[in-house]
Amino acid sequence: MVTRVKYSSISKKEHTVAIPLAKPIFSKEMETAAVDALRNERFVLGESVLKFEEEFAEYCGVDFAVSTSSGTAALSIALTALNIKQGASVITTPASFVATANSVLHSGCVPKFADIDLETYNLDPERLEAAVETGTRAVIPVHLYGFPAEVDSMKEVAGKKGIAVVEDACQAHGALYKNRKVGSLGDVGCFSFYPSKNMTVAGDGGMLVTNDEKIAGKAGKLRDCGRQSKYVHDLIGYTARLNTVNAAIGRVQLRHLDEWNEKRRRNAETYDRLLSDVKGLHLPPAGDESTLPVYHLYVVRTSMRDGLKKWLESKGIECGVHYTLPIHLQPIYQEMFGFKEGAFPNTEELCRTCLSIPMYPDLSENDVRFVCDQIHEFFEGR
Ligand SMILES: Cc1ncc(COP(=O)(O)O)c(C=O)c1O
Repeated sequence: MVTRVKYSSISKKEHTVAIPLAKPIFSKEMETAAVDALRNERFVLGESVLKFEEEFAEYCGVDFAVSTSSGTAALSIALTALNIKQGASVITTPASFVATANSVLHSGCVPKFADIDLETYNLDPERLEAAVETGTRAVIPVHLYGFPAEVDSMKEVAGKKGIAVVEDACQAHGALYKNRKVGSLGDVGCFSFYPSKNMTVAGDGGMLVTNDEKIAGKAGKLRDCGRQSKYVHDLIGYTARLNTVNAAIGRVQLRHLDEWNEKRRRNAETYDRLLSDVKGLHLPPAGDESTLPVYHLYVVRTSMRDGLKKWLESKGIECGVHYTLPIHLQPIYQEMFGFKEGAFPNTEELCRTCLSIPMYPDLSENDVRFVCDQIHEFFEGR
């Protein structure tokens, strides 16, 4: 018998969702592009794939983009393409989706963690520096929830220690750090196009971006069975290509990304304004002159997280917890590495208190106001 994993935390029987947490977009324009690609192109590595790569590279302001079957594949291929040797340690944040650390293991390396700064939810550069050891060869900063990590400070540490920087921009398509797109700041940047992301290919997909021709060339081979030519292979590669039909949809989505991110920011501003007076509620970091976030998620923090979640869901407002467990306390990481509670207190505090409330481009101002009213009501009743 097949056991099905239940993804939604909301039991449909108990509550009707009036305002979802997220809403992936699929339009007639995307449908037309998909059908056109299916009818006229090769299913694998068709023209749309090459065009999507060119356009994505240009969007990020880099020389090369290599598409992959997922963000996880992009990350692990990036480490291999950088020639990070098997067994080397790679430092990242335990406050991320598990795939960030999984990709390190997939590439034969060992994930090590450094704690986050609770103000930004991102890897703390000072803690990163303290965590670097002799065998460390790379760091993976994650732009969590679409908020740019403090990349310059991490590049400074990386430069001093002679290690590579691979940005996990899987949640931050289009976010700016000092006027440059995240993903273009380190040696390699990686993106996911999973349906919940700020842009999707209507399925799984990923992209790796870089200014280094050698890395791009190697990554291009690695995602395509290690091919030098049709049946000659000079690398042990993977079947990790992006399908043509998905690339065709991605090209359309990319054209709308800035407009969608702007709408997300507008909704975030309304949340910020209407929730700023709620005592006991921490709001997410806002942008400033050096950071322009894209609010993949709008994540508040409160010690009454579970109660607030229940309350909002009873009003038809879908919420999420990103993430219920930090990576180091995932059962498999505890089993493999013996991590214990208390190892990364800021990350553990984030996981205990974080709540993602609805955020997507077409979320109306009325709906944002309704969510805020319900949050006020919850806290006023305490
Ligand atoms: C921060 C982060 N890293 C990596 C990934 C992995 O991407 P994918 O699901 O496309 O493999 C995701 C998304 O799911 C993510 O949110």
